[in-house]
Amino acid sequence: MELKIPSLKNQFYIRLHKQLHNFVAMTENRIRQVFRERKEQGKTVTVAGPMVRYSKLPFRALVRHFDCDVVYSPMMLAREFCRNQTARLCDFTTNKDDFPLIVQLGGNNAEDMVKAVKMLQPYVDGVGINCGCPIKEQIREGVGAALMTAPDLVAEMVAAIRKECGAEIYVEVKMRIHKDLNDTVHFAKLVEAAGADSISVHGRLVPQRSRTAPNYDGIKIVKDSVDVPVIANGDAFTTTNIEEIVELTGCDGVMAARGILSNPAMFAGYTKTPWRAVELFWDYVTAYGLPYALTIHHFSEMLEAELTRYEKKDLNNCKNMVELINWFDDRFDLKRPGDEDFAIRDEYPWKNRTSFVYN
Ligand SMILES: Cc1cc2nc3c(=O)[nH]c(=O)nc-3n(C[C@H](O)[C@H](O)[C@H](O)COP(=O)(O)O)c2cc1C
Repeated sequence: MELKIPSLKNQFYIRLHKQLHNFVAMTENRIRQVFRERKEQGKTVTVAGPMVRYSKLPFRALVRHFDCDVVYSPMMLAREFCRNQTARLCDFTTNKDDFPLIVQLGGNNAEDMVKAVKMLQPYVDGVGINCGCPIKEQIREGVGAALMTAPDLVAEMVAAIRKECGAEIYVEVKMRIHKDLNDTVHFAKLVEAAGADSISVHGRLVPQRSRTAPNYDGIKIVKDSVDVPVIANGDAFTTTNIEEIVELTGCDGVMAARGILSNPAMFAGYTKTPWRAVELFWDYVTAYGLPYALTIHHFSEMLEAELTRYEKKDLNNCKNMVELINWFDDRFDLKRPGDEDFAIRDEYPWKNRTSFVYN
């Protein structure tokens, strides 16, 4: 076979490509970097947990703006993601500012997981395996919380991703606790040994709903059993809650889901959604795109503490994006990017509020 010598120009590009490749290989994974830096600073890693439908790009950008260190995508089913381009386009959009990002996958076998991770790898810092989703349809398929009783399979998934996708990708497992905490410790130790970078623990049993208080002792037992970072999850609604959770569990990070849904600025110390978050969210929604049903749901959650019952009903009567933006413009002094005062005010700039409350 004739050996073809690349032209000088091509040699230059090949060298450049190799240098870039080496640079990327040498660069620390951005999630590991966050954990290392926060540890050095004596700080807790703040994590925006996965929320099916809600943890989309505009919302991720918003929580990042308010001191969230690591952000999850919603769970995506690994098999659907690989098979179906429409599922990929609907489920996953990202951009260059969307980091550090963990995409959470649901799956019931290592092969699907590896395939999905290989497709995602160029765009994300890490992947997570969902072992906590209690939805019956998922459990029936052996996905989500079904994996809580299959620690060997989860360890196999972690090891396969590690082997096939390399050391650079961050691999995480999000689990719940078991009735018998010995099972929880066994589970955590197995996934750690398989090569997981960290473990997130939602401190509730699979059948327990959010009104049951999380078992922080159960989370602490995991933290005390493994060497990798552990992220505590359950009922973090304020920065005071976060301090208490760290105190009780000794964990390296705290993950919030419902807390940031109702107040995306929670990690920055706000106790309710500040007005600036509303303006920023409008900007991200219009710049990156978000379906109307999700947009109104987010605003409804974010404004929960500010609006009266009548005002909430009124907001939820909006039928489309145009009505929604008019609703805001009629009631508030809503600034756009480029306007003076855009995204700097915390108080709600109401216009003639009382006339709307009772109308
Ligand atoms: C709307 C919603 C969607 C969720 N979707 C997911 C998901 O896709 N994957 C997952 O592991 N957990 C999911 N969860 C669970 C949360 O990530 C979290 O574990 C749980 O809500 C407890 O945290 P919290 O008390 O801070 O809300 C979801 C929770 C909510 C409220």
